[in-house]
Amino acid sequence: MEMKEAPAISRSTPVEFTVGVVGAGYVGLVTGACLAYVGHRVVLADVSEERIVSLERGQLPIYEPGLENLMLDSADRIDFTTEIDWVAREADVLFIAVGTPPDENGSADLSNVAEVARAIGRALSGSYREQPLMVVNKSTVPAGSGDYVSMLVREGAEEAGNGAANFRVVSNPEFLREGSAVYDSLFPDRIVLGADCRSALDAMRALYKPIIEQSFPTDVDPRPKAAVPFITTDLTSSEMIKYAANAFLAVKISFINEIANISELVGADVNSVAAGIGLDERIGSRFLNAGIGWGGSCFPKDVMALMSIAEEYDYEAKILTAAVEVNTRQRRLVVSKLQHDLHTLKGKRIALLGLAFKPNTDDLREASSLQIARMLDSRGARVVGYDPVAGKAAARALPGLRVLHDPYEAVKGAHAVVLVTEWEEFRNLDLRCVASLMDEPRLLVDGRNFLDPRDVKGAGMIYRGFGRG
Ligand code: NAD
Ligand code: UGA
Repeated sequence: MEMKEAPAISRSTPVEFTVGVVGAGYVGLVTGACLAYVGHRVVLADVSEERIVSLERGQLPIYEPGLENLMLDSADRIDFTTEIDWVAREADVLFIAVGTPPDENGSADLSNVAEVARAIGRALSGSYREQPLMVVNKSTVPAGSGDYVSMLVREGAEEAGNGAANFRVVSNPEFLREGSAVYDSLFPDRIVLGADCRSALDAMRALYKPIIEQSFPTDVDPRPKAAVPFITTDLTSSEMIKYAANAFLAVKISFINEIANISELVGADVNSVAAGIGLDERIGSRFLNAGIGWGGSCFPKDVMALMSIAEEYDYEAKILTAAVEVNTRQRRLVVSKLQHDLHTLKGKRIALLGLAFKPNTDDLREASSLQIARMLDSRGARVVGYDPVAGKAAARALPGLRVLHDPYEAVKGAHAVVLVTEWEEFRNLDLRCVASLMDEPRLLVDGRNFLDPRDVKGAGMIYRGFGRG
């Protein structure tokens, strides 16, 4: 691949740090844009030339609310390149934000991280630095990866043969959610840093100072936080914090789904149960929405990765195993609920409203919509779908799925509608119109307990939620 010329960085701009971010995806782009917004000079690097070219043209490769404006706002402090070696030489701090997808056994595949680490080593070998390069692992990586990255950087330097590399590896796990990534990055609940030397922690504290002290300008009024806790620990504990956080949230959702299923049997309403337990500060009200369960690029892969880390030590992670089983069962419940009212699904038209794994994103990784569509397709149903943002990508991902451009087009002639993703626009659906367009028995399966059952029934449809009595 022909490499693009390295962008010129104007050193005259008053900046604290020159920050390199390798991996211009959901995490890399948002991290880079936020650090530029708070005053740093940022170079975003990616192996994909197509991605870098489109970013240079001002086109974002992902849908993330608020990101475009933030990047425009800080455009004079952001550059793009495919030259990772060049970024490693120029940056004070270099974030690794590449994908760590699951391998065939469910473990985190670290090949992208390894490739970047070796490239950093090659680039640093023989280049004089007064201060060590801070190599920051922002990708989600198993405990012990910090040492692995250090080893690979050293190996890369040896390969280049021009002398040792001057660097430090730190762990800085990311907790942003897609759909609210910009907000989460500017107003995080905490910043976690893992390192084995004080100077690295001090450098990272200085980098994050504007966010820790909440001193950057914002239109968000009132400012949600006075200051952000900065948690420092060792590398391995920092890496574990990330997996523990995602696993806990996934378990919390599976727990409320278990309660939803029992509520349904006994005739209780899980929404009331969740509200009742959520007010206990020890439990908390967030992540208690029952329904078809968790998907996305992180919970499924990170829970599996944590299970496989435990397995390496012959430890069976029983709670995680159960959380995964409950989650898989929630998707199957959609099929059972459809069969309960439609009986055979063969030849039935079923419309999926919402295809992205959650609202406000175009991400389809491990989306329940795709898994449900496959299950319905294998039972002979005719599956159609609609999503405000992820429609085109869904049609590419699942050629058997007919994607329509309008929710009313999608429900036309449908025997059943499944609300898969709770996009806000579905709150304003004209339910009478939906019912009039549908075919008998006019079943609506609300996969997110999002709609008011009385409205749905009042419009002439059968309502089936999850654990709603
Ligand atoms: P992504 O797939 O959106 O982006 C990854 C980017 O890295 C892509 O643009 C890809 O081209 C690039 N890349 C891959 N290999 C590369 C290489 N060798 N050199 C340069 N670029 C390379 O991934 P993402 O969702 O941003 O996730 C990145 C990491 O952050 C993962 O470890 C993920 O688990 C973690 N994370 C993700 C989220 C999230 O909400 N998406 C949140 C927290 C943490
Ligand atoms: C999640 C975490 O919330 C982030 O903190 C973390 O950084 C990120 O994973 C990651 O490591 O990538 P994200 O996957 O973007 O963020 O989205 P969430 O809002 O957490 O939702 C995940 C899934 O859980 C979605 O499918 C959502 O529909 C489902 N969910 C969420 C529920 O079923 N019920 C809930 O109450 C909340």
